[in-house]
Amino acid sequence: MEVVICESQQRAAELAADAIADLVATSPGAVLGLATGSSPVLVYDELGERVSAGKLSLSEARAFLLDEYVGLPASHPETYRNVIARDFVAKVDIEPARVSGLDGTASDLPRACADYERSMASAGGVDLQILGIGTDGHIAFNEPGSSLGSRTRIKTLTDQTRKDNARFFGGDPAAVPQHCLTQGIATILEARHLVLLAFGSGKAEAVREMVEGPISTSCPASALQLHPHVSVLVDEDAAALLARRGQYRETFAAKPEWQRL
Ligand code: GLP
Repeated sequence: MEVVICESQQRAAELAADAIADLVATSPGAVLGLATGSSPVLVYDELGERVSAGKLSLSEARAFLLDEYVGLPASHPETYRNVIARDFVAKVDIEPARVSGLDGTASDLPRACADYERSMASAGGVDLQILGIGTDGHIAFNEPGSSLGSRTRIKTLTDQTRKDNARFFGGDPAAVPQHCLTQGIATILEARHLVLLAFGSGKAEAVREMVEGPISTSCPASALQLHPHVSVLVDEDAAALLARRGQYRETFAAKPEWQRL
């Protein structure tokens, strides 16, 4: 894992945006994986600024969302499809039709998940996946206990995640849906480059478990240790519990080391 301790969240956002810009410079039709939550918002803002300044275009790119709540009406402002429409699509020059998400209102949810996997595969797979991490170590909505071999499926949200996400539902954990659809851990590991952002002391324990802990379903993000090209962009607070934090380079490269040789 390439761990980069950044001086600010803005710096981390710029590094993630650099990786996306480098990717689309060589591959304009690249497939991006998008995450919701607060951690990637500055990345989307940074991409929006570069597009507005004429320095970047995502018009030929495609994108797939990581996850979605089950049961929220399509018009609900907190469906992840609507969050991404506001946080990402509205800021850049990608056609909304080029952004795909899971359908949490589908009558046949297992089928919607299988169809989603097929559509990601037929797009050629994800080139660069943006990720956040939950305070309990979840990635997308793969809660602790999720199989490291899991594919896109229905999951039940933990009380901790419903509590964490209550801020988007008027502060009431009971208003957060109980179920979700999420790409599996094995699905996420198929993306060619994973860029995970984590900020603040509330993420410090999850970051330590992910980077330095054993690979375990107790911390689903620890499965990222199995991936050959992961960039973890953190601030000082999120890095605070890393035993080896003195060794982490404050550099970042969009390419894996063997390609830089
Ligand atoms: C949700 C999302 C995750 C995200 C996590 C952390 O549970 N499903 O994809 O990583 O929240 O969110 P935040 O970045 O707001 O802390």
